[in-house]
Parts: sequence; structure tokens; C-alpha cells
Amino acid sequence: MKRAKVAVIGAGNVGATVAARLVADEVGDVVLVDVIEGMPQGKALDLAEATPVGGTSVDVSGSNDYGAIEGVDAVVITAGIARKPGMSRDDLLATNAGIVKSAAEQVRAKAPGAFVVVVSNPLDVMTYLAWKVTGFPRARVFGMAGVLDSTRFAYFVSRELGVAARDVAAMVLGGHGDTMVPLPRYTTVSGIPITDLLAPEAIARLVARTRDGGAEIVALLKQGSAFYAPGASAAAMVKSLLRDEKRLLPAAAILEGEFGEHDVCLGVPLVIGAGGAERIVELKLTHEEKAALRKSADAVREGIGVLKSRGVL
Ligand code: LAC
Repeated sequence: MKRAKVAVIGAGNVGATVAARLVADEVGDVVLVDVIEGMPQGKALDLAEATPVGGTSVDVSGSNDYGAIEGVDAVVITAGIARKPGMSRDDLLATNAGIVKSAAEQVRAKAPGAFVVVVSNPLDVMTYLAWKVTGFPRARVFGMAGVLDSTRFAYFVSRELGVAARDVAAMVLGGHGDTMVPLPRYTTVSGIPITDLLAPEAIARLVARTRDGGAEIVALLKQGSAFYAPGASAAAMVKSLLRDEKRLLPAAAILEGEFGEHDVCLGVPLVIGAGGAERIVELKLTHEEKAALRKSADAVREGIGVLKSRGVL
């Protein structure tokens, strides 16, 4: 059987971490693409040299040329600049829009049959941009961040309760930013909602820490943003896609009426399988949750509006 092949565009910390995960889990062959001369080649060679000791047999290569993505099954777009302390993800909008637009144009030209997983920030707006520029059906373009926000929330819950991290399943919807919508009612420890296990004040504290989770890491690192958890999250999505696992993951999808939203990209519960973003699961939301999701959608729309006003879209 033919092995799957994944292109990772942007060989920075997030791109290299996604690639390392995909290689370690033998999800498929990986090609790293970056504009910096020698960097994708160097990281790819380093990853390839780890395959004998890791006991995996996939090919890893690096290139400065988009010709290398021809025929890939999936493309992960991580290219773009990262935040510095004090910056919001939206501060990255102008710079990263140019980078993601040109990556998406190359994907359209060189890998017209591929699935695209967007990781660059501001995540929801960049996913929308990649969808528009590629012209691919919405099932083939989706974005990462709900998985990341949910794993952060799950981690914080596990520490608070002193339970195994893997027993916590969290659900965080909305945009990947200040308006994200963590859903405690749908966050469980082995099936038990955390609303039955934690006081409202404790939940509020963990929700706030989740919302600021990216900034907490940026403040600690002082240069650049998180990459282990973002990389692991993107790799989990690619794995579900290429292995047809049909995992239900919170992820950024283009909405055409779901949750009452149109023509916007937003984090929603998504079934990811061989068909890509196969199905959006419409949860029942309370009035407050609905209002929070609407606010989040409006924030993403604002970003899309900025790109439109600047002629990027
Ligand atoms: C974060 C950045 C990568 O949340 O968006 O860590």
C-alpha cells in the first residue's frame, strides 16, 4: 500500500514539532518546506537520522521549493511569525496573511487534491484565507486551534483534580483568541462533567488560564510562542485525517449555517476522517454559550474584514 505523504510548510518550531510527531507515529512520509535556505533540509535530515533509533521507516525530506509538495495527501501550514510578549494573535494578521496567502496559492497550484490543516495565527482568519485562496471545498480546509485550547484546558483540569491527564476530555469552541469559548459542561473526567467535580470559582480560574494559555507561554519564553502542544495538536488532526480515525475534535471549520453562522471560520466540534472535515456536530448551547460563540464569530469576522479592506481577500 502507498504510504501517505504530508507537506509541512514552515519549518520553524511548530512545523518541526508536527513533523517529528508524524515521523514518530509513522503517519506518513514528510516533506518540510521553508523559505530559509538549508533550514528545512537540515531539520529533515536530523529527523530522518532519528528514524533508525526510533524504529520507524518513513522518508523525511526538506526543500526551499514548493515543487516538493506535488502529490502530497495533506499540507500543514505553519508558516508565519510568532508572537512576542505583549502581542495579541491579531497583531500578526498583516504579516501572516501575506505568508499564508502565498502558501495557499502554491498549494492550489502544486497540490490541488490535498487536504489543508492551517496552524498559522490568527488561526481562524488564516484558515478562512487559505480556504478562499485555494478554492478547495470546505471539507478539505480546516484549522487547528480547538485541539490545542482543549488539551490545555484538560491539562489544567487534571492538575486541579489530581487525575490522569488522559482521563480528561475538554471541549473549547470559538476562535483561537481572547474570545475563545471553553465549555465546562462538556468537559469531563471519564465521563463525569467537571461542573460536578469543581467549584464554579475553580472552573472560572481554569477557564481564564486556558484563554490566556498561549500568552502564558509567550511570557515565559520571551521570544516566540508555544510549539510542543500546538505541534502535537496539529499532528493528532493529521493522523485522524490520514488514518480515517473519525475523531471528534474541536477544530476551526468554515461554517455555512451551523451554530447560526455563515461565511466565517470558527472552532466547532468536528469529525475528522478520510473525507477531511466530515461533519460538524451541533451541540446544544445555553444562551450565554451561544452569545459567547457569536462574539467570537464577530471577532473573526472583524479580522476577515481587515483582510478585505486591504485587498488580501
Ligand atoms: C498558542 C499560540 C501558538 O496558543 O497561538 O500557543
